[in-house]
Amino acid sequence: MKDNLTINLKNTGSFISTEEVMALAQQSARHLDSLNAGTGQGSDFLGWLNLPGDILPQLDKIEKLARHLRSVSDITVVIGIGGSYLGARAVIEALSHNFSSRISEKHHDIIYAGQNIDEDYLADMIEILDRKDYSIVVISKSGTTTEPAIAFRILKNHLERKVGKPVAADRIVVITDEKRGALRSMAETSGYESFVIPDNIGGRYSVLTPVGLLPVAISGIDIRTLVRGAREMEKLTRENKNASSNPSLLYASARNLLLQHGRSVEIMVSFTPRLHYFSEWWKQLFGESEGKDGKGIFPASADMTTDLHSLGQYIQDGRRILFETMISVINPGKKLVIPLEKDDSDQLNYIAGKRLSEVNHNAELGTAMAHNDGNVPIINITIPELDAYYAGQMIYFFELACAVSGYILDVNPFDQPGVEAYKKNMFALLDKPGYEEAAKKIRARLK
Ligand code: PA5
Repeated sequence: MKDNLTINLKNTGSFISTEEVMALAQQSARHLDSLNAGTGQGSDFLGWLNLPGDILPQLDKIEKLARHLRSVSDITVVIGIGGSYLGARAVIEALSHNFSSRISEKHHDIIYAGQNIDEDYLADMIEILDRKDYSIVVISKSGTTTEPAIAFRILKNHLERKVGKPVAADRIVVITDEKRGALRSMAETSGYESFVIPDNIGGRYSVLTPVGLLPVAISGIDIRTLVRGAREMEKLTRENKNASSNPSLLYASARNLLLQHGRSVEIMVSFTPRLHYFSEWWKQLFGESEGKDGKGIFPASADMTTDLHSLGQYIQDGRRILFETMISVINPGKKLVIPLEKDDSDQLNYIAGKRLSEVNHNAELGTAMAHNDGNVPIINITIPELDAYYAGQMIYFFELACAVSGYILDVNPFDQPGVEAYKKNMFALLDKPGYEEAAKKIRARLK
């Protein structure tokens, strides 16, 4: 039996008291009931709560298709944006070799498209794809999101010209709604293999569906262990109203209490660069779930020690609106020792013989102390290792915490009405049929 992810509030002690956190957690435990009974806001979108168990029957198909795509191609392009992209990338980057694309000729690379509309980005990608065998996994719940739709049109066209329509059809997988949307009809007409994103699961809560699991399996990561980690976290948190043993409830309560004390920006901090995209996933999860009705904590992130030499100054001395959530990984996967040098010209012999992880750990401790002294509260989250099991634990831990936190803020954590605003302007400017009136208004503003 493995240890669980833990949360520690010792570095928030001079800002909020244990009693206050526990009181808010006790009040907030009712939100677990609302989630489990489906009586809170956005209750049509609670399918993610059951995913660690519900997804099991689909794992065989996901793994089989992952093996197939690996066997017919060197690269898989995952097309998607927001919740249809970040979860997969978070897990893949967290669990892969830091230089995976350079590790061996045989390495199956995962690259990402449809998360921007930059011409050079996609043109550069096509230059690489011209020389490689590749597959496409296109993910969009609505099946109509502009960025992935454009990328899919361009890459499908490229692949079909390169290998012919029948072979391309064998290398394209669609993950979308069961019935609605352009992608579903394209899958049916062209005979693409496909998976369904259930109606009751929103994009940013979908990492434990094929949306996240297929790309993760293609990258070679053991998705069964990932799901097992999530399952273990579900058991620990979903119905547990005791905040001292429910890390999701504790985290949701502590961050809301910090907000009530004026801390409106939360920085996700890690000393493990492979967690960079985990922070990106977390930012979307919390930002899109909470940032509405003029409410919410602004989610930001920093990669340490890199950002100690950029954002570090602000965190230490800038406006005191911040708190940090620091994710620590206890055991590194590999070992590297700092060598002794006879002449000590760089004056590093005082750490000769030490592992790099020891230096990193002390940098982390020193940073936490300095930031605390600089009036920054820190929530500490710890996992023993960065592996598939703990990635699964973190996913469920943060998803449940986010839902509870949204309910504490009294917002619907499962919608994202604000995302439509930029789309409307863009469609009008691009003369999309149906946007004529909006186009007139917008052009008048641009004059
Ligand atoms: O979390 C969400 O629901 C969003 O971030 C969506 O995932 C994102 O907008 C992409 O939507 P779709 O999957 O419909 O293309």
